[in-house]
Amino acid sequence: MSESVSICVIGSGYVGLVAAACFAEIGHRVICVDNDEARVKLLQEGGVPIFEEHLPELLAHHRDRGVVFSTDLGGAVESSEAIFIAVGTPQGESGAADLSYVEAVVSEIARSVTGYKVIVEKSTVPVYTNDWIRRVLHRHGVDPQSFHVVSNPEFLREGTAVCDFLHPDRIVVGAGDDRSVEVMRRIYEPLTGGSYYSQPGALRGQCSITRPAPLVVTSAQSAEIIKHASNAFLALKISFINAVANLAEAVDADIEDIAAGMGSDSRIGPKFLRAGLGYGGSCFPKDVAAFHWVAQQRGIDFQLLSEIRKINDTQREIFFNKVLSALWTLRGKRLAALGLAFKGDTDDIRESPALDIIKKLLDAGAVVTAYDPAAVERAKAVMPPAANLIYADDLYVASSGADAVLILTDWSEFGNIDLVKLNQVVRFPIVVDGRNLYKPQTMAEHGFTYVSMGRPATYHAQQGKPRGEVNAVAR
Ligand code: NAD
Ligand code: UGA
Repeated sequence: MSESVSICVIGSGYVGLVAAACFAEIGHRVICVDNDEARVKLLQEGGVPIFEEHLPELLAHHRDRGVVFSTDLGGAVESSEAIFIAVGTPQGESGAADLSYVEAVVSEIARSVTGYKVIVEKSTVPVYTNDWIRRVLHRHGVDPQSFHVVSNPEFLREGTAVCDFLHPDRIVVGAGDDRSVEVMRRIYEPLTGGSYYSQPGALRGQCSITRPAPLVVTSAQSAEIIKHASNAFLALKISFINAVANLAEAVDADIEDIAAGMGSDSRIGPKFLRAGLGYGGSCFPKDVAAFHWVAQQRGIDFQLLSEIRKINDTQREIFFNKVLSALWTLRGKRLAALGLAFKGDTDDIRESPALDIIKKLLDAGAVVTAYDPAAVERAKAVMPPAANLIYADDLYVASSGADAVLILTDWSEFGNIDLVKLNQVVRFPIVVDGRNLYKPQTMAEHGFTYVSMGRPATYHAQQGKPRGEVNAVAR
């Protein structure tokens, strides 16, 4: 039986809330703190502020037992052995990470250190942040014997966050002393020893009692760089395949076949080779920029990182131009935008390529009807409904009377559209797919002109109606 550790998680966002629920799930006592009073109230009353698979069930099970929610950071720190910092580290103006939220939290922690504490960086931070946290604590007069700072980067993805947390490819702990590593070992023991996986009701995934999660112990600097380098490398894979997609399109090749062919080389691997609108989200864009800044600060010319970003930015332009060439002009055109979130299975719209593209279409004079299975409310908060921007509750309603349907987010719902019904409701059967969710031949067979990324377009012989008539030719 693993030992329960008292844990404080600061930040109840996509990372903090998932970490808090998962630590409770593996047997620890958790206080999750946020300074957003409304959010904490919602959590205390049984609400779940983010859309994330398995999270509502975990919170329902552990709320007020393994995990409690509070705004009292000092009290939570006093009664915890390990303090996980999971606040935001957004991009600052220079490209560097803005660490002001981390600093504010560390200053508050300093006032409440009583007894030995392990202070854990869970937020994504640049190398040497660990040292800075230590220095800030010293400046506030905290006894150096009473704490250690550990880097424990998080690799979860939104949409699969709970499963990623409980079934990780690896758990990285960067520390410079044995005492804090021992505390971290105790915290993760149910996953690294495997006992969690044989527990009744344990969430199933890639790890098991015989194949538990590996723990990797490194220096703090190495752990900090592992996080930035991992995100930058994943972003590189995406930009690489997008650059190849653009070449493929120029020579009438098919990027899906190319990605499958490349990905079956075990040294390359099939993941993160999906061409499309480029990466968005709250992490890849800011982490590639922050990693570049870190390298520049050390006098290292890591130009590859700016190329990754440039290719990524270009994808949105390329998509926009595809819409333009499919429709000739955009002023007054009715477009159905399927997707608002930065990727499927999340309500997160931060740095979403979909929102960026919708803004460009609106600027060009189009009228957009948007639908997303989870992100409509968040989108409305930043792009309020207007005469030229309507939000729909259903993809067929959004597509009704559309001059073209645009697929902007890779929700599985958008990969399983009833194409006969779609063809009946649209004005013209034109689909511009930024996520390559369909085979061109299937779309042609259903009477659509289909334009996607890195593949030859298929044209419907007769762009007008009669509705539902299947009369397609592949170019
Ligand atoms: P988020 O914006 O969803 O959540 C941050 C939370 O911290 C907010 O609820 C905010 O109110 C709270 N907060 C800010 N200042 C506070 C303070 N002084 N006291 C208490 N609470 C405070 O952010 P996120 O997406 O969870 O990301 C957090 C960190 O984790 C970032 O560094 C990010 O790069 C990293 N990360 C994110 C993901 C992801 O998928 N979102 C994955 C891995 C790592
Ligand atoms: C990413 C990483 O995958 C996580 O390991 C990491 O912890 C997290 O960032 C972070 O540090 O915040 P996330 O941003 O949730 O997770 O989502 P991903 O699934 O990585 O997708 C990121 C973006 O890349 C999305 O816009 C997605 O549509 C795009 N993408 C992904 C592609 O365009 N092609 C692909 O093949 C994969």
